[in-house]
Amino acid sequence: MSLNLTYKQVNKIFGEKEKNPVHALNEVSFTIHPGELFCLLGPSGCGKTTLLRSTAGLESITSGKILYGDKDMTTIPPFRRNIGMVFQSFALYPHMNIFENVAYGLRIRKTPEQEVVRKVTEVMELVGLTEELKRNPSPTGLSGGQQQRVAIARALVYDPDLLLLDEPLANLDAKLRRYMRAEIRRIQKATNITTIFVTHDQEEAMAIGDRLAVLRRGVVEQIGTSDELYTNPDSAFVSNFIGKMNFFNATLTGKNQGRIDTIGTVVDVKPEKVRIDPDAKLSLGDAVLIGARPEQMEISKEIRKGAIEGKVLIIQHLGQVVRYEVLLDDKISETSMEIDMPALIAGVSEQDKVYVSLKEGMPFMFLPEERN
Ligand SMILES: Nc1ncnc2c1ncn2[C@@H]1O[C@H](COP(=O)(O)OP(=O)(O)OP(=O)(O)O)[C@@H](O)[C@H]1O
Ligand SMILES: [Mg+2]
Repeated sequence: MSLNLTYKQVNKIFGEKEKNPVHALNEVSFTIHPGELFCLLGPSGCGKTTLLRSTAGLESITSGKILYGDKDMTTIPPFRRNIGMVFQSFALYPHMNIFENVAYGLRIRKTPEQEVVRKVTEVMELVGLTEELKRNPSPTGLSGGQQQRVAIARALVYDPDLLLLDEPLANLDAKLRRYMRAEIRRIQKATNITTIFVTHDQEEAMAIGDRLAVLRRGVVEQIGTSDELYTNPDSAFVSNFIGKMNFFNATLTGKNQGRIDTIGTVVDVKPEKVRIDPDAKLSLGDAVLIGARPEQMEISKEIRKGAIEGKVLIIQHLGQVVRYEVLLDDKISETSMEIDMPALIAGVSEQDKVYVSLKEGMPFMFLPEERN
């Protein structure tokens, strides 16, 4: 039976005794439920691999606890933790055929031969490699996606309690990646093994995970379903990591109100969309960010009250929507805006002047320093 996996105030400091120690995991606390497909998402260097390696026992944590059920895993040596792992560079053994690659974990567990054959056959069927197993080539005789499946089969074959996948799709081309992520979800749901899937690709995390945690500089910023993170991001960072958020530099002019800098457009923000911790103790006149997603903004050819002038850089037809990339004055925003419209706007071409506005009741308010 599968149990909760719980991180309790986990810290990992590399080079503690040196001048510039790296705080790779900082007070990490959360619980993954049995059978869950949990995504760890964050930029390069935020601590994703460190968290996986610590879970597998390949890295010792500086403080805190990692519990499986109520058992403290940190006291168990790696080979006794029943964990399957696919590493960031998932190197298969090139000198072994694929059968032996997959059987490896069973052999070191001294599994009887008959059982090895049965388990390998079963798991290769699960990952869709029955035909390849009949040929049984070395991994170099397989495509990238097939090699990936072998790596997953190798981690699954001994029925691990936990499956840890570290950017398993990183080496595949875009189309295969999309296909394989659906495959991983299918395999995970078929086995119901509690799984952590690491990626720095937000689209992949949103597509694959039951829930996701966004990690930033060793700190868990937010945990939730993709829908929760997209709809209710806690910080500017999360909002722009899960989906796109356009930011306007603004000044606080009232409790839930900001004035966009230099042009004076005043934006009322719904109280539940103000994502600023009361502890931040802001005063009127302090800098804030007004944020809006591409679908929470509009552009028009004609000037409108409160609208902000900009220049269209690129128009992209994305099927369901047309995305306009619009450049505003750099005091308003350092980066160009992405605005999604339901259809092409007649008479507006690239390089044309347009007017940008925020849909009422939609914008968020964030702290500027939490942006990156
Ligand atoms: N063995 C080590 N010694 C010293 N510092 C390390 C070591 N391993 C990782 N780090 C540092 O810890 C931080 C987290 O690294 P980690 O590999 O966990 O990041 P990551 O989120 O997996 O990044 P990526 O997406 O690039 O794989 C980084 O700043 C990294 O330089
Ligand atoms: Mg990594």
